[in-house]
Amino acid sequence: MGTQPTLATDRLLLRSFTLADAHAVQRLCGDYAVAATTLLPYPYPDGLAEVWITSICGGIERGDAAAFAVTLAGKGTLIGGVRLRIDADHARGELGFWVAQPCWSRGYATEAVRAVIDYGFCVLGLHRIYAMHFSRNPASGRVMEKCGMVHEGCFREHVRKWSVYEDVDLWGIVREPVSRPGASAPSPLQEKPV
Ligand SMILES: CC(C)(COP(=O)(O)OP(=O)(O)OC[C@H]1O[C@@H](n2cnc3c(N)ncnc32)[C@H](O)[C@@H]1OP(=O)(O)O)[C@@H](O)C(=O)NCCC(=O)NCCS
Repeated sequence: MGTQPTLATDRLLLRSFTLADAHAVQRLCGDYAVAATTLLPYPYPDGLAEVWITSICGGIERGDAAAFAVTLAGKGTLIGGVRLRIDADHARGELGFWVAQPCWSRGYATEAVRAVIDYGFCVLGLHRIYAMHFSRNPASGRVMEKCGMVHEGCFREHVRKWSVYEDVDLWGIVREPVSRPGASAPSPLQEKPV
């Protein structure tokens, strides 16, 4: 519980969001192309980014969230976000992610999501990570597939987006048992007594 580290990949630095990111979050998530395949509102209202960043910081403190601002290594430009909604009772996390539209199809989402899955398993001690995407958004499913997630099914008309019932696909990945001699897995999140 509490804070989270910065994660470095080949091209990206994944760091915590701060209120200083609010303006960029509003601008990038306010893009119709990002709103259209997520549950984000459109237009993105003033003040929502501040509320979201504050709530995500609270979630990190409580241990029920992890969230990373995806930035370009070196430049520091914010280009996206990846978050895990954590259910400690079941040691599982639900992934959500987005990348700014001008940066699509360069492998950034895959690179960032892989790093957060590793973090979820190796540092947070999660057992399972899953994610959903609108069935009409195959790029998101492709990111999940490239990150080692397995397609687990389709929920028909599971969510209502802009007055339309949408099919949603579910993908998941379960932590592999550690088999190397001498290697130890992180302690799993503790199940609460009933
Ligand atoms: C989905 C999203 C995160 C992908 O980000 P990205 O940085 O472009 O992803 P990557 O470049 O890592 O990978 C995208 C993959 O999808 C593929 N792809 C793109 N459009 C596609 C389409 N219409 N059909 C099938 N595959 C598609 C790309 O070719 C690439 O696969 P490849 O490496 O095998 O060629 C980005 O489009 C986005 O933020 N969209 C809006 C928000 C959103 O939908 N978030 C996900 C909600 S669950």
